[in-house]
Amino acid sequence: MRTKSKNIFAFTFFAIVFEILAATTSLAQTLRQAADQIGLLTGAAVAPFHFSEPDYANTFAREYNMAEPESVMKWSATEPARGEFNFQAADAVVEFAQAHGMKVRGHNLLWHSYNPAWVAAGHFSPDELRDIMRQHITRVAAHYARQVFAWDVVNEAFADDGSVRHSIWYDQPGIGLAGKGTAYIEQAFRWARAADPAALLFYNDYDAEGMNAKSDAIYAMVKDFKARGVPIDGVGLQAHLGLNAKGVDSLAANMARLAELGVQLHITEFDVGIPIDQQGKPLDLGDLEKQAAIYRQVATACVQQPACTAFQTWGFTDKYSWIPGFTRGKRGFALPFDRDYQPVPAERALLEVFTEAAKK
Ligand code: G3I
Repeated sequence: MRTKSKNIFAFTFFAIVFEILAATTSLAQTLRQAADQIGLLTGAAVAPFHFSEPDYANTFAREYNMAEPESVMKWSATEPARGEFNFQAADAVVEFAQAHGMKVRGHNLLWHSYNPAWVAAGHFSPDELRDIMRQHITRVAAHYARQVFAWDVVNEAFADDGSVRHSIWYDQPGIGLAGKGTAYIEQAFRWARAADPAALLFYNDYDAEGMNAKSDAIYAMVKDFKARGVPIDGVGLQAHLGLNAKGVDSLAANMARLAELGVQLHITEFDVGIPIDQQGKPLDLGDLEKQAAIYRQVATACVQQPACTAFQTWGFTDKYSWIPGFTRGKRGFALPFDRDYQPVPAERALLEVFTEAAKK
């Protein structure tokens, strides 16, 4: 009898110690460790100019298993003059990622925006533009073959109403496929596949997280591409959100219908800007919890959807987020780490979602 109660006591004691240890261990984890446990890629957009800052480099390498250049793989960085390619800055991101065992997501091969002046104001004929586009996609994708595992081949090609956005590549003047809907997008994907047959090819857009006219158009395009054997492997949902969490309610449904078409899904540019003061601090501390709840919702939708294989934020420290500049100082504090590289409640939310998923 005494032995039995001793055993129960020992069992209870060890069970409690185990619980405490388990809780402590899971809290002590990094995003990277937690994501690795569930086979999820978790990344951030980065700029190589900051790698010389120890806090930046250390936090990034410790917390993430995927890297994406925020701007240095874009056209103006990689082909600043016609036929003159410069891969120096983008190579620095690839080298950092390889040195730290991270995968590299490429962003992007074609965009209507932020093209260098020689492209945007070159007044080329459709035939010339077609040649320029083919050469750019081919050279950049070939340079990064076996180094970039997934590309945003075409970025933001749809307008909010679901129509194909007017752009230099589509119809201003376009590459000879003006008025033919997604035909120029298809062409970009075909050239990308030819240049790097191993890379996963993604279409990437914003405000298309939930069910709406734009996400309907993306769905229709992917369905058509898949039916006709056009090489597309994934859809990137940028998810630049505010506290109103636009589209989040129907994110899971949108992901589910895309997943049924056989594509992967990546959350590619997640951030949740909140109102800030002149020091870049939140105006209302309560917003941090609201923000964390949105982080939790989106990350949960991703980990619950088997086709969602990557969760990435657009930057990781508020020190270098694009949001304050873009909103003229009205919003910020959008990322998992603050300006001093300290985790905020949003980071805890991600950690909990990833850790909980590992227990299932
Ligand atoms: O590097 C130059 C620097 O030399 C110069 O002194 C400075 C002065 O303005 O500009 C620097 O370049 C800036 C570049 O970011 C690098 O920081 C550009 O002006 C600025 O326009 C550029 O903005 C980027 C923008 O895309 C355009 O490329 C943002 O940082 C970047 O966050 C943003 O990312 C986009 C995604 O690609 C697509 N989805 C939306 C997302 C947010 O807009």
